[in-house]
Amino acid sequence: MKFFVDTADVEAIKELTALGMVDGVTTNPSLIMKSGRDILEVTKEICEIVAGPVSAETVALDAEGMIAEGRKLAKIAPNITVKVPLTWDGLKACKVLSDEGHMVNVTLCFSANQALLAAKAGATFISPFVGRLDDINVDGMELIADIRTIYDNYDFKTQILAASIRTVNHVSQAAMIGADVMTAPPEVIRKLAAHPLTDKGLEAFLKDWEKTGQKIL
Ligand code: E4P
Repeated sequence: MKFFVDTADVEAIKELTALGMVDGVTTNPSLIMKSGRDILEVTKEICEIVAGPVSAETVALDAEGMIAEGRKLAKIAPNITVKVPLTWDGLKACKVLSDEGHMVNVTLCFSANQALLAAKAGATFISPFVGRLDDINVDGMELIADIRTIYDNYDFKTQILAASIRTVNHVSQAAMIGADVMTAPPEVIRKLAAHPLTDKGLEAFLKDWEKTGQKIL
């Protein structure tokens, strides 16, 4: 499974990239706001750090506006993925932009039928929002599983990008189901390394090591 980091925080992207944890980046208008930076500037900087796909989201509501914004965003760097919302206009924009050869990430997907439409419109990625479904007591992972089944049934090439990942369990569950990509905030990616038995085991080993009186260096 590919790991995308869901942030516009350049320092966090640098840190995780150095560890080999970043196959791509996703941003959205809220994350750009949080960064306090200009969208064109910060996205360009991210594209210079990360070789994989970097999603930059359009904000127009009509297809024409999304296409114009998408073309402008795509000029930032060759690894830009234009992100459009899963609306009828978003699907129109997806078709035009993907026919032009741009990578397109269709975002805000909350149903299997929406994912089916995105695949038919030529989306490179579909972003089902797991956490936001969980927020309203709907199992977000069931949606990932349904989309996996549908895409496999018909050999759709659109990649499933599990989004709105909020917990470490979301990551392993999405991987078990076979999501192609997951995007999570840096803190969730860091938490994947944590286990209380690792900490406990390390503490015990170090206590015993002290008793040997030895040094490695
Ligand atoms: C995905 O592309 C979105 O940027 C993101 O995953 C949304 O996550 P949230 O629901 O935690 O805001």
